[in-house]
Amino acid sequence: MIEEKTLPYICHVFVCTNDRHGERKSCADGNSSSVLSLLKDAIAEQGWKGRVRVSQSGCLGLCMKGPNVLLYPQKIWFSSVAESDVPDIMKKIELIVAE
Ligand code: FES
Repeated sequence: MIEEKTLPYICHVFVCTNDRHGERKSCADGNSSSVLSLLKDAIAEQGWKGRVRVSQSGCLGLCMKGPNVLLYPQKIWFSSVAESDVPDIMKKIELIVAE
């Protein structure tokens, strides 16, 4: 029997790590696994675990603009994300957490 709940997180961060191994562009071409790790570490460092969740995701449909990172339920979409963009994403999450 299914169970329905409201989202337990203030913000759920999805990082596409889909890898097509060069057959076609995919977020893994832009080192998205590293972006995922950096975001997870930064969220843990801030003590936001339980309030902000970072999950890897499969293809989100905008592969040509990858790596892609989404924030839900805020409907914020970052494209062409590099490891150096993690601090900017964290600033955005900080504003969400502070609301
Ligand atoms: S491979 Fe990441 S959006 Fe498609």
